[in-house]
Amino acid sequence: MTERSIRPRRLRSSPAMRRLIAETRLHPADLVLPMFVREGISEPEAIGSMPGVVHHSLDSLKRAVEAAAEAGIGGVMLFGVPLEKDAVGSGATDPDGILNAGIRAAVDAADGALVVQSDLCLDEFTDHGHCGVLRASTRSATGYEVDNDATLERYRDMALVQAESGAHILGLSGMMDGQTAVVREALEGAGFVDTAILAYAAKYASAYYGPFREAVNSSLVGDRRTYQMDSANRREGLLEVELDIAEGADIVMVKPAGSYLDVLADVAATSTVPVWAYQVSGEYAMIEAAAANGWIDRERAIDESVLSIKRAGADVVLTYWALELAERLGR
Ligand code: PBG
Repeated sequence: MTERSIRPRRLRSSPAMRRLIAETRLHPADLVLPMFVREGISEPEAIGSMPGVVHHSLDSLKRAVEAAAEAGIGGVMLFGVPLEKDAVGSGATDPDGILNAGIRAAVDAADGALVVQSDLCLDEFTDHGHCGVLRASTRSATGYEVDNDATLERYRDMALVQAESGAHILGLSGMMDGQTAVVREALEGAGFVDTAILAYAAKYASAYYGPFREAVNSSLVGDRRTYQMDSANRREGLLEVELDIAEGADIVMVKPAGSYLDVLADVAATSTVPVWAYQVSGEYAMIEAAAANGWIDRERAIDESVLSIKRAGADVVLTYWALELAERLGR
């Protein structure tokens, strides 16, 4: 055997060969579409920083969920944008609050064809924009800090309202310690034994959430570095995953995705529950912006970015391109 008889190029020699050899594939069922439902609008409204993504009215949400089911995508993840905000995020636990009304509308429209998930976090509902409730603190330069355990009480109530509204999976994105345990206990106690928990286990404090903050009209001043993870830390991602699994998470997530593929690969190698990844708003906006300028081939960049997340080990990818990708894959 000469050195040149080993030719890796053989398996790249034709489109049919490459298709057969591909180790990773995208499938509509592996995609989840994040969606925004906004109170007080009757028509969908564009989000400036996320071209192609809209704020839905309750009606347009229903139509979009039907389209998502039609395209075969695995699920939708709902975020609510309320008209009124306050210090404790009251809208989040109001059964008629926009997110809970959105859950009911989406479950109805999905009619069992896809899984309806809801964001369980306070930041869209608080006037200060933090993911929890605040308390005075002399340790902090701002004079306040996010109160972990008081926030857990809010999450507990939120979980029950969302489960009651019919959400199939609750997406715990707040990064409070113990949130999975508290929500699991509340669900069990109230008889919601089939409501699943998706723990945003390794969620990093990231600049890539920028466009999302516009999308939810975030009023955040400052940052989330005392509760979301430091991007310097890889090993800690495994600790967060281990804790969430021990506390009863059914699924764990790494977020953002593209800049954290090492963490994702570590988690995929060790997790005993499904591993998902969230391709966040900034990852979306960067490709859209570069493509709009003619600097990048839009479809190829989208495909490559999502495929890379799967290759690194994600079973399912949350992506704002879910519908477009699913429709393209179906053709
Ligand atoms: C918190 C939450 C955020 C995102 C999803 N859930 C914002 C944050 O943590 O600041 C960001 C998603 C994205 O950027 O696409 N409710």
